[in-house]
Amino acid sequence: MHVALMGGSLRPASLNARLLHHLAGLLEAQGREVSTFVGEALRLPLYEEGLAAPEGAQVLHEALRQAQGLVIVSPEYNSGIPGHLKNAVDWISTMGPSPWQGLPVLLCAASPGAFGGARGLVAWRATLANMGALAYPGAITVPHADQQLDEHGAPTDPRSAASVDKTLGGFLALAARLRPEP
Ligand SMILES: Cc1cc2nc3c(=O)[nH]c(=O)nc-3n(C[C@H](O)[C@H](O)[C@H](O)COP(=O)(O)O)c2cc1C
Repeated sequence: MHVALMGGSLRPASLNARLLHHLAGLLEAQGREVSTFVGEALRLPLYEEGLAAPEGAQVLHEALRQAQGLVIVSPEYNSGIPGHLKNAVDWISTMGPSPWQGLPVLLCAASPGAFGGARGLVAWRATLANMGALAYPGAITVPHADQQLDEHGAPTDPRSAASVDKTLGGFLALAARLRPEP
């Protein structure tokens, strides 16, 4: 199974990027093929009608076309989607053929705040539904992530770690049913 992961902020010390790399490591340890899009890979020019899609958007578009599932690990900015991630999604939504239709997506977030970025995921669900992607009902959120993620992005609380395994496993099972290996 090929799983794409996108997210993190543009900060080198991004907590969400750290969590993303941890999730990518878990997937690789299970023998899944992963493509990661994080940090500078998502620093794309602002979408503008008439501009040719930048190379970064083309690479992401192709990875999403090949993927059987997408894991988004998103910071929450003012209860919404950070601009650089929304911009990347907007680019891809203008490029055919659409990779979004029926694409299983697992939403994840980490924040130093008490809600773990959960409010931003509400905004993600509306955007994904608009594009025809299938957001998994569960989600991974890490509150107080500045204290609750270790240096490799793994949750330090055993209950959170178990919840990550359970949610990731449930998502992969659904993605395998919706998008069997070619
Ligand atoms: C413009 C801006 C808005 C933010 N809004 C929220 C918010 O609504 N909820 C929240 O939990 N954290 C908010 N934060 C704090 C981020 O969660 C925090 O900076 C986090 O570390 C960002 O993710 P990163 O570590 O991956 O860069 C905001 C940060 C910025 C810069």
